[in-house]
Amino acid sequence: MQYKIMLVEHDRLMLEQLSKVIETAPDMELAARFQSSGDALGQGKVFNPNIILFDTDVEGATEKLREFTGAFPHAAIICTGEKWLADKTSHYIQAGASGYLIKPFTYNSLREALMTYAQSGMQLDSKVITFFSPKGKSGKTTVISNLAIALSRMTGERVGIIDADLQFGDMAVFFNLEPQSTIVEAARDARFLSPLDLRSYFTKVTDKVSVLCGTKKPSLIDRVSISNLEAVIKMAKAAFKYVLVDVPPGFNPTSIAAAEMSDYTYVMAMLNGGYEIKHVQRSLDVFEAWDDFEDRVRVVFTRVVPCNKEAQEKISDAIDYDVDVLVPNAYMMVSKAADNGQMALDLEPEGQFAGSINSLADIIIHQNDTGRGAKW
Ligand SMILES: Nc1ncnc2c1ncn2[C@@H]1O[C@H](COP(=O)(O)OP(=O)(O)O)[C@@H](O)[C@H]1O
Ligand SMILES: [Mg+2]
Repeated sequence: MQYKIMLVEHDRLMLEQLSKVIETAPDMELAARFQSSGDALGQGKVFNPNIILFDTDVEGATEKLREFTGAFPHAAIICTGEKWLADKTSHYIQAGASGYLIKPFTYNSLREALMTYAQSGMQLDSKVITFFSPKGKSGKTTVISNLAIALSRMTGERVGIIDADLQFGDMAVFFNLEPQSTIVEAARDARFLSPLDLRSYFTKVTDKVSVLCGTKKPSLIDRVSISNLEAVIKMAKAAFKYVLVDVPPGFNPTSIAAAEMSDYTYVMAMLNGGYEIKHVQRSLDVFEAWDDFEDRVRVVFTRVVPCNKEAQEKISDAIDYDVDVLVPNAYMMVSKAADNGQMALDLEPEGQFAGSINSLADIIIHQNDTGRGAKW
């Protein structure tokens, strides 16, 4: 994307300095620059900027910011200031700003801020997807981890996994990670972070996939309040193209909050005897309370033998709901992958398991937003 920047900076010397950074940047255009926000509001529109860098080191910055978000609905507004103040930043975000950048800035920090904040500000349709299971051992973590890799490979986009299975999250074990920080710290700091900062709480798996790992001890669960978890999810949406949320089994405050905030919720169950069909049916009955539930709730069954079109139709008929994908019995592959520190997806790239995961990724990538979306 070509960034067309309008720079609003009340300090003349700073205006000169920042202008230079933008003018010499190969992928940015300084569309307009103003020393007064009144002038910018009055004259800026003709330049049609998609980014506004707005100097907040002035009286009444929040009110002015509101005027800018009203006047430039299609631009991402990034606040600039000499010092980052947590409580002020949250006011700016509420007034419609997409992020905050310390000035003077270098080309690299400006570029990184634009790449992160501009996306969220312009809402380049990130998707948050929660994976819900009526009971434990549904194959959820296996699917999420492999799906994250598949999504990143197919799109080249950033994928973030949030392990909100707060007590017994095992995403870190799955990927063999030793996280420096977990959801406990992210939730603690959420109110003071920007999306850019939040990413540093995630642990990298690949260049594009990272995980916000679960609590290190089950007893730490109390440290993650629902409202802070919501703040983390919301912020992650601004930092990743796809956010996959693993939640504890069953209906509980965490799984409900995550599902409500998600664009899509996958109800997952591992076939083992047949009761799972009933469990999924009952879960769907609960989700039915959402008026847009058919757009937002999807179903996946794992460990299905035989795993073919007929089975998919049979299960769909039984639950009276479309099943997006069936995942075959992949016990051996999943165990082998865990032993070798590999992804099951990569053990047999042409096999049925990889095929299922790739189809699921394909469905998610091409799912059109219904326009209604998540409830926030
Ligand atoms: N498709 C599958 N086929 C057979 N076994 C599976 C499959 N997916 C996962 N498993 C097994 O089930 C166990 C639980 O899977 P996991 O993904 O951790 O589920 P959950 O996160 O729902 O508890 C794993 O240890 C794995 O051995
Ligand atoms: Mg799990």
